[in-house]
Amino acid sequence: MSDLANQFLFLPERASTFAERVDFLHYFVVGTTMVMSAGVGLAALFMFFRYRRREAHQTTEYVVPDLKTEFLFVSVPLVFFLAWFAIGFRDFTWYTTPPKDSMDVYVMGKQWMWKFSYPEGPNGVNVLHVPANRPVRLLITSRDVIHSFYVPSFRIKMDALPGRYTQAWFEATKPGTYQVLCTEYCGLSHSKMLAEVVVLAPEDYENWLKEQQRGRLQDRQDALADTSLVPPVARMSEQGQKLVGTQGCLGCHSVDGSKHIGPTFLGMYERTEKLADGQDIRVDEAYITQSMMDPGAHIVAGYQNVMPTYQGKLQGPESAAIVEYIKSLRTPNVRESASEGP
Ligand code: CUA
Repeated sequence: MSDLANQFLFLPERASTFAERVDFLHYFVVGTTMVMSAGVGLAALFMFFRYRRREAHQTTEYVVPDLKTEFLFVSVPLVFFLAWFAIGFRDFTWYTTPPKDSMDVYVMGKQWMWKFSYPEGPNGVNVLHVPANRPVRLLITSRDVIHSFYVPSFRIKMDALPGRYTQAWFEATKPGTYQVLCTEYCGLSHSKMLAEVVVLAPEDYENWLKEQQRGRLQDRQDALADTSLVPPVARMSEQGQKLVGTQGCLGCHSVDGSKHIGPTFLGMYERTEKLADGQDIRVDEAYITQSMMDPGAHIVAGYQNVMPTYQGKLQGPESAAIVEYIKSLRTPNVRESASEGP
């Protein structure tokens, strides 16, 4: 069962220790089924020719198979079925008991993104970094509806249910980037609820982790150092532009005026928004900042309350930079192109 066979059968690459097991069972079931079908087919063909009617009015002799033959017909398929069950049960037990030393990552599905958080470290949206050759346990839940976390190359799939945790585990075998899909129909952008797992060599992972921690620390130090010296607005806005890309804002907000999952950033600043509760609100710095930290506080009419909070994810200077960037997209005369009707 080489990778060549996999390619021939259009199966995705195998990149976890579980993938080997799943594929073995898959090929075993397919293989034994084929052997059995061939046996039945050949026997039928044999009977067809051997016992065909040779002359008119010939009647077939009534045959009672002996006990041995009957036993054979029952026991051979039974042995196959039991073998399927045994292998399947062994893999099921293996998959549902993560090793004690596995690393935990919390996975939260929400319409329509995957959020990953590490107990000791950074958070991520739509990108999960893990080390190779180390068991990783995923504790999976959902913020809204049922999603399902599926990594074809790892052969793992687990539902994400609101209000409860499910778990899955894997041990990635080779560095690379692997696709994550949502496999539970969960609304309008279900098909776009994609993410990726980036598997790094163990030492690269350590470096990445340090980098993340250093980045956080540096941001904090910069913030402290900058209290007397406000960075030039242009530089902040430039930083904000980068942040809306890296933080995933552009997954829901456009910058060209087109309507998406959330309101467009173009011309958002100083616009008057109609809220779902009928109030009018003028978009200013405070409103934008609050929308990032507590998105449920004000829902703009015609949009759903689906934005994740960036509380704890964005440092003060970062959210300020995003506000500056949105301010730079101020266009007093442009209205959202498709704002009429949701
Ligand atoms: Cu989430 Cu489909």
